Amino acid sequence: SASIDIAVIAGDGIGPEVTAEAVKVLKEATASDGVELKITDYELGAAHWLATGETLTDATIDALRGHDAILFGAVGAAPGDTSIPSGLIERELLLKLRFSLDHYVNLRPSRLYRGVASPLADPGAIDFVVVREGTEGPYVGNGGVLRKGTPQEIATEVSVNTAFGVERVVRDGFRRANERPRKKLTYVHKHNVLVHAGHLWKRTVEAVAAEFPDVAVDYLHVDAATIFLVTDPARFDVIVTDNLFGDIITDLAAAVTGGIGLAASGNINMDRTAPSMFEPVHGSAPDIAGQQKADPTAAILSAALLLEHLGHGAAAARIEAAVAADIAGRNPASARPTSAIGDAIAAAL
Ligand code: NAD
Ligand code: IPM
Ligand code: MN
Repeated sequence: SASIDIAVIAGDGIGPEVTAEAVKVLKEATASDGVELKITDYELGAAHWLATGETLTDATIDALRGHDAILFGAVGAAPGDTSIPSGLIERELLLKLRFSLDHYVNLRPSRLYRGVASPLADPGAIDFVVVREGTEGPYVGNGGVLRKGTPQEIATEVSVNTAFGVERVVRDGFRRANERPRKKLTYVHKHNVLVHAGHLWKRTVEAVAAEFPDVAVDYLHVDAATIFLVTDPARFDVIVTDNLFGDIITDLAAAVTGGIGLAASGNINMDRTAPSMFEPVHGSAPDIAGQQKADPTAAILSAALLLEHLGHGAAAARIEAAVAADIAGRNPASARPTSAIGDAIAAAL
C-alpha cells in the first residue's frame, strides 16, 4: 500500500499549535485509506536560531529534499522583539526554502464557505485561486544601501523578473484556468508604472494566451484589483501575479472570505524536482500564541492541498468536506480552542 513521508516544520508562535491539528487530521485521513504516514519533525525557527545561531543549513535542505512534501506552520518574531533581527527567520528560513526548492507556484485558493461571516455585506459566490509567483520579484534580496544613515541614504530593492520565471508561472495560471468551469484568467500587475517588469508580464501573458484559446483573459492594475476584491470578488476565477502583489492581495482575499484563519496555501514545485511545501497564509500571530486561540483551519486545508499534490485527491476532498461542514456549524458566540477544532474535523473523517 502507499505511503507518504512528510517533513513538518512547525516554527514559531501559533505555528506548532495549528500544525499539530493539521497532522492530527492528516493521520486520520490517510489511515482510513490504508496509506502509511511517516512524519519527521524539524526544529527550525526563532527558538532554534536563538539556541544554535542557525536558520537553515545546506545539510538540512538536503535532508528536506528526501521527503515527499513539507508541512510548514509559521515563523517570525513578535513586533518589538529585539532578540532576533527583524525578518531574519522569514528570509533565511521560509524564503530560502521557497527559493532553494524552486516553489515557483505559490497557490492560494480563496473560497467563501457556507456559514462564514464575510465582512462584505453582499459578497456573492467567491471561489478563485491566486497563482502567486514564488521565486522572483522584489523578494530576491537584490538591492543595497548607499550612504547609510545619512540624509543622502539611497536604498534600492530591485525586482527580478526573468522570461523563464514569468513564463512558467503564467503558463501554470492558464493551465489551471483551462481546467476550471469559468475558464477565466486575470493577470495583475502595475504596468502603467513598472514598465520593465510589467511589460515582460504583459508580453508573456499575450504569448501564452495563444496556447489557451478557451481561456478568457483580462488585466487589472494591482490597485484596481484591490477595489474589485472588495466590491465584486465573485468576478475572479484565476489570478496570476508577481510575488509581492500576490502577497498583498491574498491577505485581502483571506479577509473577505472570513479571515486569515481559513486561508491555505501551497508552495509548489510543479516540475517535482524537489518537495513542495504547504502552509497557512497567516504568520506566527504572536498576539494570540500559546493560548489555543488560533484557528487551525488554514493549516488543515493546507494539509489537504498537500495530499492533493501527492495524488491523494480523495483524501483531500474528504478533509475539505469535513472542514466545510465544521465551518457551516460554527457558533461565532462560542469560539472553540485550537485543538477542539482539530478534534472535531478529525472525528468527522
Ligand atoms: P499574522 O498573520 O501572524 O497575524 C495577523 C493577525 O491575524 C493577528 O491579529 C493574528 O492574531 C491573526 N491571526 C493570524 N493567524 C490566525 C489564526 N490561525 N487564527 C486566528 N487569528 C489569526 O501577521 P503579522 O502579525 O503581520 O506577522 C506576525 C509575524 O509572523 C511576523 O514576524 C511576520 O514576519 C511573520 N509572518 C510569517 C508568515 C509565515 O511564516 N508564512 C506569514 C506572515 C507573517
Ligand atoms: C506569506 C508571508 C511571507 C511572504 C513573509 C513572512 C516572508 O507574508 O507567506 O504571505 O511575504 O511571502
Ligand atoms: Mn503574506
